[in-house]
Amino acid sequence: MTTQHPTGYDLLRNPRLNRGTAFTLAERRALGLEGLLPPAVATMALQVARRHAEIANLGDDLQKYLVLSDLQGRNETLFYAVVMSDPASYMPLIYTPTVGEACQTFGHIFREARGIFLPISARGRLKELLGNWPEKDVRFIVVTDGERILGLGDLGAGGMGIPLGKLALYTACAGVPPQYCLPVVLDVGTNNQSLLDDPLYLGLRQQRVRGTDYLAFVDEFVDAARALYPKCCIQWEDFANINAVPILARYRDRICTFNDDMQGTAGVALAGIFAALQLTGGKLADQRFLFLGAGSAATGIAELITLAMTREGMAPDAARQRNALFDINGLLVTSRTDLADFQRPFAQERAPLSTFVAAVEALRPTGIIGTSTVPKLFNREVIEAMARINRRPIIFPYSNPTSRSECTAEEAYRWSGGRAVFASGSPFPPLEIEGRRFVPGQGNNVYIFPAMGMAVFATEATRVTDELFIVAAQAVAEQVTEEHLALGLIYPPQSRILAASLHVAERIAVAIFDAGLAGVPRPDDIGALIRARAYRPVYPE
Ligand code: NAI
Repeated sequence: MTTQHPTGYDLLRNPRLNRGTAFTLAERRALGLEGLLPPAVATMALQVARRHAEIANLGDDLQKYLVLSDLQGRNETLFYAVVMSDPASYMPLIYTPTVGEACQTFGHIFREARGIFLPISARGRLKELLGNWPEKDVRFIVVTDGERILGLGDLGAGGMGIPLGKLALYTACAGVPPQYCLPVVLDVGTNNQSLLDDPLYLGLRQQRVRGTDYLAFVDEFVDAARALYPKCCIQWEDFANINAVPILARYRDRICTFNDDMQGTAGVALAGIFAALQLTGGKLADQRFLFLGAGSAATGIAELITLAMTREGMAPDAARQRNALFDINGLLVTSRTDLADFQRPFAQERAPLSTFVAAVEALRPTGIIGTSTVPKLFNREVIEAMARINRRPIIFPYSNPTSRSECTAEEAYRWSGGRAVFASGSPFPPLEIEGRRFVPGQGNNVYIFPAMGMAVFATEATRVTDELFIVAAQAVAEQVTEEHLALGLIYPPQSRILAASLHVAERIAVAIFDAGLAGVPRPDDIGALIRARAYRPVYPE
């Protein structure tokens, strides 16, 4: 925003400074606002209550999303005050699952441009385009190329909803100040024919660019971002795995960067597993996991579990063998010739198996983790087999949105006779089966990535390592109480996400300082550093 304090109409049109009806009479006089606002002065609490009531009266989640999005564009402080007053209710509206529909209908619900769109047609000028962003000290970029939005596939430029929503969560859930956050879309085209045929589609109307031209474009973006914002961390989001894996490998040791689909997902799954072990008993190194899906989420989780198992003394190869993957062509076994480099380390030395239930029977996993984007594949047969093999089977259908979940909470609890330790990618409401109450946990990356962002921001970290995600996972799991576990809830309640995230951020920050990755001197009280830097939704003096 501008460095000179705007007044009058410009002030009311500046979402970062606008307070709407909360401007006092003295402020209105001093700032040229008299006559531009109705006479009554509201407190922020009253403004928040007004929005709660308005939103509660809307019947449709996409409408609620739009009301919140308009509020963010009008009065950012109030937007965060509303969201942070009841995060458990608002997170599903500003991010998954509602954001999926917002991305799908992006061109149809478009109101005002937010973030930066970098079309491949502007190659050679990306620094100029990025430089048009009004903030000069950006610390966090969330970037997507829109090819694999949630489980919804290629949504092209409509993918902008994801960086927008995700950055709102960095702020609302962990206090990363919004002025340091920049949402970016790399528009290299789309292969989604219905978008290309839609007159309201807002992206480049061409097939996706691949290969060296694509990589050169990504390189130019990274160079431009680093040149303009040297302290910036780049978070890759919702790229197809053919690009996600090589992009992360290319930059992870060179710049401060991470991929939330891979590393954040892995962190939150590992957090769920650490907490689940309190119910199932046993060490991580005793577990066997079978993944449905072998894409970026599955291999990311499997890699982190492997690393965490080696921390318990296992050899890396033995640990990898405890993480078997099953994809559209069956179990990943060494005789398969269709495996990508990032999948091969997990190939099992055994005969091919073509059905998931056969793989469950053969491998006898303690947990199954679904990241296939295909609903209903954890069917009755699979869950009954898991319940036969395990006293407390770990069942994690992680595909998003809800419509893609490999099973519902009710199915997992019912078919396992109430013994499943369940968590899903998209939320399921609490339920009662035969008089017993269950509160299903959501393995939502929101437990990890905002806290990671806050820790990186406060410490000015130079790298984001996998070890930091193990630390984050432990810090999430240690906040799950006996009371939560008794209800089956293996993640902290989302209603207290800010406190949970600040705890996780502190633990990560300690690890950043210990590893010598911080860009600021180590303070005596790292928790105080985190709290001092955290955003609060109050109107500035
Ligand atoms: P991806 O496209 O890279 O991988 C999908 C995998 O599923 C592929 O290996 C494919 O072969 C396999 N698959 C597809 N159909 C199958 C079938 N019928 N049977 C067996 N395997 C099948 O996608 P990615 O990035 O791995 O994401 C997968 C899902 O995980 C998405 O729905 C995404 O929303 C979800 N996810 C959830 C997160 C969370 O809840 N914390 C975070 C990140 C991703």
